Amino acid sequence: MSEARSGGLLGWVDDRFPLSKMWREHVSEYYAPKNFNFWYFFGSLALLTLVIQVVSGIFLTMNYVPSGDRAFESVEYIMRDVQWGWLMRYIHTTGASAFFVVVYLHMFRALLYGSYKQPRELLWIFGWLIFLVLMAEAFMGYLLPWGQMSYWGAQVIVNLFSTIPLIGPDLVTWIRGDFLISDATLNRFFALHVVALPLVLVMLVFVHIIALHEVGSNNPDGVEIKKHKGPDGKPLDGIPFHPYYTVKDIVGVGVFLILFFAVMFFAPEFGGYFLKADNFVMADPLVTPDFIPPVWYYGAFYTTLRVIPDPFLGVLTMFGAVFVLLFLPWIDRNPVKSIRYRSPVHKFNLIFFGLTFVLMTWLGTNPPDPLLVELGLRATVIYFVFFVVLWFHSRERSMVMSVATFLVLVGLYTIYDLTRVDSETALLVWSVWLVPTIYLAITLLLPAFMRGTGQDKPVPERVTA
Ligand code: HEM
Repeated sequence: MSEARSGGLLGWVDDRFPLSKMWREHVSEYYAPKNFNFWYFFGSLALLTLVIQVVSGIFLTMNYVPSGDRAFESVEYIMRDVQWGWLMRYIHTTGASAFFVVVYLHMFRALLYGSYKQPRELLWIFGWLIFLVLMAEAFMGYLLPWGQMSYWGAQVIVNLFSTIPLIGPDLVTWIRGDFLISDATLNRFFALHVVALPLVLVMLVFVHIIALHEVGSNNPDGVEIKKHKGPDGKPLDGIPFHPYYTVKDIVGVGVFLILFFAVMFFAPEFGGYFLKADNFVMADPLVTPDFIPPVWYYGAFYTTLRVIPDPFLGVLTMFGAVFVLLFLPWIDRNPVKSIRYRSPVHKFNLIFFGLTFVLMTWLGTNPPDPLLVELGLRATVIYFVFFVVLWFHSRERSMVMSVATFLVLVGLYTIYDLTRVDSETALLVWSVWLVPTIYLAITLLLPAFMRGTGQDKPVPERVTA
């Protein structure tokens, strides 16, 4: 495009601020691969949900009162008496869940196409930080309505820190600002939820996108379009983000908003997953609910905590489950990025991981019945072992290495099982033991004995249509 200066108001602004230059660099002349599919909707949808949350949150803040005495009733007041207050509140509660749906799908897309691999490691790290802050943001927001689940959920999670040796109990008092969850806690959570964390989120999203535009987008073929440029210096397989992807993203936004409004208007509680019945009862420090489930989006991580009998080890496992994601670029070293050209075993591994994560999410929101806890334990094993398998298939391995890795991994959890099994639990323990063992047999032994199942395909030089 021409560098010619425009006249009029735009020219006046451009002489003082690089508005047109930024538009060209980041939108109209940002060359994105021409083969984006629906998985590439979720980045722009994450941006949209962020805006939805900020705007609806501002309106809620106008009538919300952050005090133990008034918080609950101020939310009821918003729902019943404030003009369109119910709409703002349901937009915000549905938006919180929608945000996590979108971000989980966005992250899974990165796994499908190896988008975290070189040169996009820093982009992934910024994304991971966003995820971390997003979880903290939702956690603090959940305390604000001061319902039973708000109160007791915060109690459970804050108390996790008390398991840390030596500093635990003092740390918990410091986080709460009191000896129990109180007004002081509510006030600081309010400040963090409404001001500090949204600021951090917006800044992180900004650097996330700057990092993306520095290296360029990956795509469903996992090939670098910058390697093949035309005489004009533009990638041959790239098309300008605007108008091509702005228009395409509008389709994604349309579908998203239809689903969003369907849930918001017709099922805002979403069967107790988005809003829990117990949270329509005001917080009572003297009445502990029978079961304090986390909101669905923490379910998978909560499962990893709950299946470990030792509280501190449970906390470490839960944080480990979040932290391991950060190291993905260094765990999966296979040069083939996209699932399209990875082996059948890799395809199975990734899809099975996705399903395991969904199962863990469901398990975490259900009462700890023995069968569910046992399933949760096996799912947690698969969650972590998935990363070992990913690392294992970073290059071709010998048959000896495959068998040895299989035996070590199965041996590790079998030893643990032997320490805890008794005549009453034997049937349950050994039948569910089969699940990770079959999973490992498929992902580690099968490629060793049936070569084709572990073989990646040749990657094309250019993107396919
Ligand atoms: C508020 C949350 C987020 C926003 C607004 C956001 C925004 C975006 C946008 C607009 C894109 C480009 C469009 C696309 O590729 O879909 C993108 C790409 C990307 N994001 Fe995010 N993101 C968020 C969270 C995350 C998280 C939590 C992760 C990972 C932990 C992540 C990892 C990535 C990666 C790896 C790419 C490059 C994908 C590719 O080129 O194939 N993002 N993000």
